[in-house]
Amino acid sequence: CASAAFTIAIDGPAAAGKGSISRAIAAHFDLAHLDTGLLYRAVGAQVLTGSDPLRAAQNLTADDLQGDSLRSAEVARAASDVAVMPEVRAELLEFQRRFARREGGAVLDGRDIGTVIVPQAEVKLFVTAAAEVRAERRFKELLASGAETTFEQVLQDVIARDARDSSRATAPMVAAQDAVLIDTSDLTLSAAIAQAIAAIEKDFPNE
Ligand code: DC
Repeated sequence: CASAAFTIAIDGPAAAGKGSISRAIAAHFDLAHLDTGLLYRAVGAQVLTGSDPLRAAQNLTADDLQGDSLRSAEVARAASDVAVMPEVRAELLEFQRRFARREGGAVLDGRDIGTVIVPQAEVKLFVTAAAEVRAERRFKELLASGAETTFEQVLQDVIARDARDSSRATAPMVAAQDAVLIDTSDLTLSAAIAQAIAAIEKDFPNE
């Protein structure tokens, strides 16, 4: 029932369509949505201006999660750097768990939501796509936003970030055993959203 704490965990690598799918699902099922990558990006952004990572994580507020600058490639790299720090992850854990268990239910997207943050989530999705496909999508976004880069550079960034996110000791990016896998390599966004909604409704027809 929609008023209980109902959590949908959506994990996967960057540019697989996770963010768009999460927003669409949250709107469709009328659930709150948290893009947990923003927490790491906000900490990364503060480290770039000289802050201590742990202190930045401890003092994070909702206001810090706003702003287009969090979307830059530089901040993404800084986010990936702070995301390997166990003490930073521990600091951000409670905020995410509280959000997940809020009344009315929630969608959280990230890398470790189904495995570490909310292993008891009612539904878990792992959204992925081939690295070349993800790099192509990111490349087009970057070009559209006026950034100067090459496809090769973006592909290298995607592969390097995957490797770092998947190989870190604390909470590496991995699909939960009971996650539904959605590979968006050959899917349009609306087809991917339809698959995600179908997967959720299969388990929870009343949601
Ligand atoms: O999804 P994103 O690109 O905004 O994530 C930024 C970085 O934060 C990325 O390198 C992985 C990390 N991250 C994480 O470790 N755990 C999460 N739940 C979300 C993001």
